[in-house]
Amino acid sequence: MRMEGRALGIDIGGTGIKGAVVDLSDGHLLSDRVREKTPQPATPAAVVEVTARVCERLTESGWLTPDLKAGAGFPAVIKDGRSLSAANVDPAFIDAPVQQLLTERLGRPVVVINDADAAGLAEVAFGAGRGHPGVVMLLTIGTGIGSALLIDGKLVPNTELGHLQLHGRDAERLVSGAARERRHLGWKRWAREFNVYLAMVERYFTPDLIILGGGVSKELPRYVKYLQARAPMVPAAMLNTSGIVGAAMAADGGLVAAEREAEAADRSAESEERVIAQPVGPADGR
Ligand code: BGC
Repeated sequence: MRMEGRALGIDIGGTGIKGAVVDLSDGHLLSDRVREKTPQPATPAAVVEVTARVCERLTESGWLTPDLKAGAGFPAVIKDGRSLSAANVDPAFIDAPVQQLLTERLGRPVVVINDADAAGLAEVAFGAGRGHPGVVMLLTIGTGIGSALLIDGKLVPNTELGHLQLHGRDAERLVSGAARERRHLGWKRWAREFNVYLAMVERYFTPDLIILGGGVSKELPRYVKYLQARAPMVPAAMLNTSGIVGAAMAADGGLVAAEREAEAADRSAESEERVIAQPVGPADGR
């Protein structure tokens, strides 16, 4: 998908909230990359305030103008603008209207997508996955483990593979970057455990390319010799910026609209009679 113009990209993570104005034609940053620490506890009100601070700094620098739309990557399952999970942010984010909260506070339209999905979109458009056909898997290894699954460039959102079960526990609790530090694992030991996780991901998805991103990918030379996978593995090309760039790509509803169209086309092919189960909602009277 060729995009034009510029947009604000925001990457909300477990440790930092980063933003920049992005040139959508080639994914490069037009402004400085501004970073503030993620507030602790990372409640919706606190996160929205710090995000607003990032935007103020970009406005002060002259790059962020009122006409620019924004996209934000957020570390949770995102459905219809709501965050449905909260592994590394405050539990108050579960079922929070994060897209609406940001749109209101920032005074501009904001489209929110999962943070790893944002990174995956950017790497496939402009980085390590550019022009790569087939099944591309991006894994971000940082505070948690995020995943993006793209098939011939099209995103399957919210795959959340950091929560696959490894030795009976959430994989990211054992092999994320934060877990490596918390568990005082050396690179060799960590890589051995991460290989078990990779084998599981490969068993389920048989990717044609695995892109490693997130904080831990910056240290790749220290452990690359211990890593094993069937698919070729490459480091993310846009180490600090893929989350910001992918978020900016989602601004303006461009990608969301494209996905909606595809979904609507699929749905119209199904007849009403084929619906055999209704979505589970709150029971009557609750
Ligand atoms: C979250 C994901 C996120 C990943 C990386 C996980 O804990 O569940 O939504 O993509 O961390 O931030």
